[in-house]
Amino acid sequence: MTDRETEIPVEELEVLELVEEIDEAEDFSAPTGLLGKAIGLGDDRNAGMDPEQPKRLSASFNPFMSSLFPVLFVDRQLRIIAINPACAKLFVGFPRMEGNYFFDIFGRFFQVEDIRRIRETIVGGKNGYSWKGETRIKSHDMATVQTRVYVFPAEIAKNPVEFVIMFDDVTEENRQLLRAVFLSLLEASKLKDNDTGKHITRVNYYSKRLAEELFYSLGTQYPNIDADFIDNIGFLASMHDVGKIGTPDDILNKEGPLSDWEWTVMREHTKNGAFILSTYPNPMAKEIALSHHERWDGGGYPFQLEGEMIPLAARIVSIADVYDALRMRRSYKPALSHDVAVSKMMADRGTHFDPFLIEVFNIISDEFDKIYKVNRDNE
Ligand SMILES: [Fe+2]
Ligand SMILES: [Fe+2]
Repeated sequence: MTDRETEIPVEELEVLELVEEIDEAEDFSAPTGLLGKAIGLGDDRNAGMDPEQPKRLSASFNPFMSSLFPVLFVDRQLRIIAINPACAKLFVGFPRMEGNYFFDIFGRFFQVEDIRRIRETIVGGKNGYSWKGETRIKSHDMATVQTRVYVFPAEIAKNPVEFVIMFDDVTEENRQLLRAVFLSLLEASKLKDNDTGKHITRVNYYSKRLAEELFYSLGTQYPNIDADFIDNIGFLASMHDVGKIGTPDDILNKEGPLSDWEWTVMREHTKNGAFILSTYPNPMAKEIALSHHERWDGGGYPFQLEGEMIPLAARIVSIADVYDALRMRRSYKPALSHDVAVSKMMADRGTHFDPFLIEVFNIISDEFDKIYKVNRDNE
């Protein structure tokens, strides 16, 4: 053990190691981010940076390092000095942060006005060097993270770290609140519809599985499918028939075939569903409700959309919904086996269903069968 180590408490040593690692890994003169320059950090960005200072003053990182809150530390030039493990976990897959400017990594997630205010806070000392706001952060591989963001000083006089930027992840909180509202709507619609609760759960599972296959195996052909799309379709597919809440019971529960007029009323459930889901923040909810009965050849309803005019999410849910309807026993039809259901659907390739998606369905159809069996209705 060296003389220097004997003088320093153990917990401080751990932090020193972390800072030394950063020092070794990064040339602090290296960042040349355009955004850093654009917001006025200019060529004096290294001014006042004493490479020895972080080591001396880093003990103040300590309480934040074990914090549950994702925290990163920036200097007065908004350059990231260190991040804590919670921050590394939240932004996994992001480029290395230490040594880069905060806005070169996160700038695209903030409004221009917020960027200006944060700069005024840190450089100009506005509001006691403090700022509070919100943002939504995402990359292609990760679902959107909604966070509150807090900027505040940390031992300004002595510390080259100077500012803490703390993220409070409220994604799950917001998502649960939102979904709870729409789930109660779904529960209400289930009181009327004679489809089972397990039907809508299975449609969620099939739709999510098909979207995952498109993302992982064919991602370049479906750039709109990302982690958010998969998460959303896995919840919103179950809402496809929520508009039936507005369909009269005598039509919904009629034993025999429907008359033309009754069909006209029945078809309205698509538009009613879109209306009910119009307050849902993601347009996918509306698209699924409105277009899950459209057909690839233009022979569906309510608007006879054809081909790729039909939103992708609705084309996926259409396959999931029809597969499950074929497998289920209903008062007017027997349950079909998996093989018969698949061959019927493959015969409708390019007429009812998107010819490409139905091929992907065919490839993974054994998994549809598994989902059906695991989540079977209680007869
Ligand atoms: Fe429907
Ligand atoms: Fe359905």
